Amino acid sequence: CGIVGYIGKQDATSILVDGLNRLEYRGYDSAGVALFKDNEIDVVKTVGKLADLEELVADEQPSGTIGIGHTRWATHGKPSTPNAHPHTSASGKFVVVHNGIIENYVELKEELQEKGYHFESETDTEVIPHLIEENYTGDLEETVRQVVAKLEGSYALAILSTEEPDKLIVVREDSPLIIGLGDDEYYIASDIPAILEYTDEVYILNDGEMGVITRETIDLSTVDGKPVEKEVFEVDWDPGMAEKAGYDHFMLKEIHEQPEALSQCLAGRLDTTDISLDDVNLTADELKQYDRIQVIACGTAYNSGLVGKYAIEKLARIPVEVYIGSEYRYRDPIIDDRTLVIVVSQSGETADTLAALREAQDKGAKVIAICNVVGSTIPREADEVLYLQAGPEIAVASTKAYITMLMAFYMLAIYFGRAKDLLADEDSRRLITALKALPKQTQQLIDENEDKIKALASEFANQENSFFIGRSIDNAVAIEGALKLKEISYIHAESYAAGELKHGTLALIEEGVPVVALATQESVLDKTLSNVKEVKARGGVVTGVTLAGEREIEDLDYRIEIPETEELLTSILAVVPLQLLAYYVAVERGCDVDQPRNLAKSVTVE
Ligand code: G6P
Repeated sequence: CGIVGYIGKQDATSILVDGLNRLEYRGYDSAGVALFKDNEIDVVKTVGKLADLEELVADEQPSGTIGIGHTRWATHGKPSTPNAHPHTSASGKFVVVHNGIIENYVELKEELQEKGYHFESETDTEVIPHLIEENYTGDLEETVRQVVAKLEGSYALAILSTEEPDKLIVVREDSPLIIGLGDDEYYIASDIPAILEYTDEVYILNDGEMGVITRETIDLSTVDGKPVEKEVFEVDWDPGMAEKAGYDHFMLKEIHEQPEALSQCLAGRLDTTDISLDDVNLTADELKQYDRIQVIACGTAYNSGLVGKYAIEKLARIPVEVYIGSEYRYRDPIIDDRTLVIVVSQSGETADTLAALREAQDKGAKVIAICNVVGSTIPREADEVLYLQAGPEIAVASTKAYITMLMAFYMLAIYFGRAKDLLADEDSRRLITALKALPKQTQQLIDENEDKIKALASEFANQENSFFIGRSIDNAVAIEGALKLKEISYIHAESYAAGELKHGTLALIEEGVPVVALATQESVLDKTLSNVKEVKARGGVVTGVTLAGEREIEDLDYRIEIPETEELLTSILAVVPLQLLAYYVAVERGCDVDQPRNLAKSVTVE
């Protein structure tokens, strides 16, 4: 979900709607705004996309110089207008927007119902305005402190009241919230892009902190009342970076930004034979003491970890286990002081990954975060951070964050290999030279293949099933390729280790079923090609992704060539045609590419 708010001299309506538009990637099944004017709070909200809210706002014309807004991704209660935020107390005096989940809301709701409170929605959030009303004794700040003490779970809250006009209260616990500084005006948001157009100076709230904001003043404190001093965080993104820059979709724009994202990710980190990761404070001696690495992440970030495993095991000979964030805590993970944990997250706010990070730290592990959003929760809590430097990623389906995650893993793998004296100067130099070439090669690959892939998309567009196969690193990339296609085109896509297909799933290959075969690994090429033959024999239509200069392969119906690189590094290039394929298939099927149904960019609930 996304939160935005404003207090100042301007009319807040357009600032709120504009901010919500920029946050739409955080959730978009319903939205609403509340504006304070003439001692009344006007709430306008609706199920549907932001365009629906914009229409309603145009009809009802709410106005005011203080307001809060919200775009929702349903957790408790279906997407509906009553369930949309803001939520209001019975008297209409207290209005709240909330991100996160109140875990003890059932209990709180029952207590309130016994006292005669009536609930308009099925949400967990609605207990909050009622609790504020129930406990209000003439001091909103104090009441909010008492109320949040009763809440269990995660919340970023913004609160308005007619009882204390000209004041906005915000609280954060396990869900991001920032305050933007203007000139006798303040902005609040769950995420920087929402307010970047208005200010680049922000306070980032930590868990357990709140802000009491008027037009002229801001008081930051912990929820139990201790004053908080905070440095202003200067955001160095320019607002244009968060726009579509002329592309039809953010996803396409972000695919095209990958060469630059890769260069940024490498910037300042390579010399001829070594990787310097100044931001990761791990000495060679320290590294030598680790005999196991655990990688934890969700979704696409998890898939990057599957490639990371190959790279680290190959170059540094440290066994790597890759875990899904939401599963990690429940398996009683085995951690000792020789275990290094790497969490991977584009947003740095994924609740499942964050919970796993905390579990690993509680058990004594040192945690490195690989992350894109600077200053987000995961890098702030991790012991060390390797920032991706990919720039803002808006499309739900991750592309440039994924490709830079792969780059981050390759750099770490070389770094670890060198620290352990396992990687000779010559080998390291070869790999680093190849890494440096990847941004340009990615550009070349896009330039040479985009039209071809666009044409190929029609082969997939009318299908309901598809398969992605590959061996070793190609297998890991196949998993990401299948996820991309599923996420945005809704075509069922299965990824299989190429050699595993014959152990059952081959039964599903029939006449006309599209199969993408990744065949970039020279050392297993013949074996992969035998699997391609098995598919062809059952009528499958095979698109091969191979290295340029590779020999003729007669069984392929279509062939996409990626530039030559080191065998270990092919993942960075091989994924690009799969991203473009997913994109053009989704476009051909008329899907909402940037906002696929039921998905959100940043999932801050477990
Ligand atoms: C959501 C997104 C995925 C993403 C995953 C992990 O489910 O829809 O695209 O891969 O979260 O996100 P993170 O920000 O932690 O990388």
